[in-house]
Amino acid sequence: MAGDNFAGFGRVCPLLHWVFPHAGYLSFLKWAIFIVSPKRTMRTPSFFIDPDIRRAETLPAEFYTRDDVFEALKVSVFERSWHWVGPVANAISPEHSVSPFVLLPEFLDEPLLLSRQEDGHIQCLANVCTHRGNLLVDKPCQLRQLVCGYHGRRFEMNGAFKSMPEFETALDFPRPCDDLKDHPITSWAGHLFVGLAPSFGLSALIEILNERVGFMPVSQFTYQPKKEEVYEVDAHWALYCDNFLEGFHIPFVHQALNAAVDYDQYKTVLFEYGSLQIGYTRGDADTFDLPEGHVDFGSNISAYYFWLFPNVMLNFYPWGLSVNRVEPISKNKTRITFKSYVFDASKMDRGAGGDLDLVEQEDEAVVAAVQKGIQSRSYSTGRFSPTREQGVHQFHLLLSRFLESDNRSN
Ligand code: FES
Ligand SMILES: [Fe+2]
Repeated sequence: MAGDNFAGFGRVCPLLHWVFPHAGYLSFLKWAIFIVSPKRTMRTPSFFIDPDIRRAETLPAEFYTRDDVFEALKVSVFERSWHWVGPVANAISPEHSVSPFVLLPEFLDEPLLLSRQEDGHIQCLANVCTHRGNLLVDKPCQLRQLVCGYHGRRFEMNGAFKSMPEFETALDFPRPCDDLKDHPITSWAGHLFVGLAPSFGLSALIEILNERVGFMPVSQFTYQPKKEEVYEVDAHWALYCDNFLEGFHIPFVHQALNAAVDYDQYKTVLFEYGSLQIGYTRGDADTFDLPEGHVDFGSNISAYYFWLFPNVMLNFYPWGLSVNRVEPISKNKTRITFKSYVFDASKMDRGAGGDLDLVEQEDEAVVAAVQKGIQSRSYSTGRFSPTREQGVHQFHLLLSRFLESDNRSN
């Protein structure tokens, strides 16, 4: 009898016999499995960041060096936030009704699909058939319905299940989960943002974009494919963002940029899930033509650097917009894509928005050096400048809170 088995176990360990006197060996095993089960023990790594920047320490080196942290960020941060996709016309051309894409290749690798509805609005659907997981669409094209090429399951353009051969006798079919997953999508000035399961909205970003750069005809800016650049840096993606989020390093790292931007006036404005850095003009660099009534009217401004948690940078200059998307590849490698949308070509290649490639090379050099430095046995964590590193502090706070919220929901 099972109890006898356990009695033998109990003779070896009287304490266990006292705890499980009648339960039997199998019950004991069940308890043991429960206690060590992954669901119970798999905690997301967590890091504390003091909300008071004057006291706070930066994320420790292990945040950037541990494999489990890098993996946890996929779920805790990237699945729960928004991703810039681009202007509608570039993301899905007017002659197509569907356009497949992969969200963050080599990282999330999530197959998605933009689908134009009859009334013109765009939906973001999973590009994965709900039968046995085949990819539905492999290239942009014009369709009236989505048909899986494997066994012929059909979906409406909005992802609703339509029909499936040989399923007449299937019970409880179709269910809501037989529809294609419909992901949240938002747009601002024609630029699309999608999320897998974002835990916050974009209203704060949209409000401040409208306030500061809403006077420009952003939806009419012209995409410049020739200006597109893809960089790879040997560093953790969050180190790249850390560097972007402060102008503290400008006088030390960027000589040419420092000549165009007034360091003393340089300012960081925080908003929910993002920040704005304002580069005031130095010398005769180009400035925005701000209309009367604008919150910054009367100031000479060369750059508005917006950042959306965790990895989107929307940099506005008098010539237009440069979008930088930071794409993690591994904990030691990051891809950064630069795309340009031109408003006034005559102002390109000058001032704060001038030689962006030079600024990028300078940034990459220092970020790669930090990647090496944080692996030193002598480095564990640092402190924030309360006057110059508010954006980095906010980023670290958000990262720690998103990781921690995973533990709360476990
Ligand atoms: S996987 Fe799509 S119909 Fe079978
Ligand atoms: Fe920089």
